[in-house]
Amino acid sequence: MARITASVFTSHVPAIGAALDLGKTTEPYWQPVFQGYDFSRQWMHDNKPDVIFLVYNDHATAFSLEMIPTFAIGTAAAFAPADEGWGPRPVPTVIGHPELASHIAQSVIQDDFDLTIVNKMDVDHGLTVPLSLLCGQPEAWPCAVIPFAVNVVQYPAPSGKRCFELGKAIARAVASFDAPLRVQIWGTGGMSHQLQGPRAGLINKEFDNNFLDRLIADPAELARMPHIDYVREAGSEGIELVMWLIARGAMADVADVAGVAGVAGVAGVADGARPRVAHRFYHVPASNTAVGHLILESRT
Ligand code: DHB
Ligand code: FE
Repeated sequence: MARITASVFTSHVPAIGAALDLGKTTEPYWQPVFQGYDFSRQWMHDNKPDVIFLVYNDHATAFSLEMIPTFAIGTAAAFAPADEGWGPRPVPTVIGHPELASHIAQSVIQDDFDLTIVNKMDVDHGLTVPLSLLCGQPEAWPCAVIPFAVNVVQYPAPSGKRCFELGKAIARAVASFDAPLRVQIWGTGGMSHQLQGPRAGLINKEFDNNFLDRLIADPAELARMPHIDYVREAGSEGIELVMWLIARGAMADVADVAGVAGVAGVAGVADGARPRVAHRFYHVPASNTAVGHLILESRT
């Protein structure tokens, strides 16, 4: 059976991709950002999965205001890096996993989550920048990737609770795939940032670090936070953080697996029952954004 081994959470700032592509990673502005991922690149090398299920948002690149799927799963064999206005990034083509993606689509849709199935799609910085941060600049990405695009660009975005529950459905789907695949689930975007209007440039370190604490310790409670709180506290683009709840929802707490009730309370899930925190990093600034990054490993 396939198994979710870990989850990775990271911002996906496009200027980070440009800094890598243009060889600027050691410049004083960028060095502390990339240093925060030194651990992660080694970890990725040591914990190479067969497939990454990569939750991100398309930034009006593959989709536009003409068509806005709330949740879209990429079932194609390959996905080209998108041209976002400066030509496609010089990164490898993303190789998909049509069999697992189709299985997840079938399982999740029949588990009452309506997904859009996408057989042809270019992938933008939301997907390629996280891959670059964790994998560096290889000739080919180290594993297959299933793109999973979430609408957080055009109101209304899905609720945190729906994202969290969807993550659980994705985990059930992966667990019922009959092949011994090691699967990671990644949640990208955030943390606090606002790219437009009078509050452009907004950063909220206290909100972001509290979000990380709660994502680790009490995600079910965090998932109840309404959209207006994200936007007020973390800026209009801070709403990207709901995608992190999909990846966290897919990570079983040991108590869930054992069927133990009543562990989720004010203090959240007991420490020993949670996924293991392998790495945590937070840095301001990178472009207009607070960069947050977590790696959680499954205990089950
Ligand atoms: C920036 C961050 C994003 O998440 C994004 O999608 C676009 C721009 C930024 O910080 O500039
Ligand atoms: Fe973004």
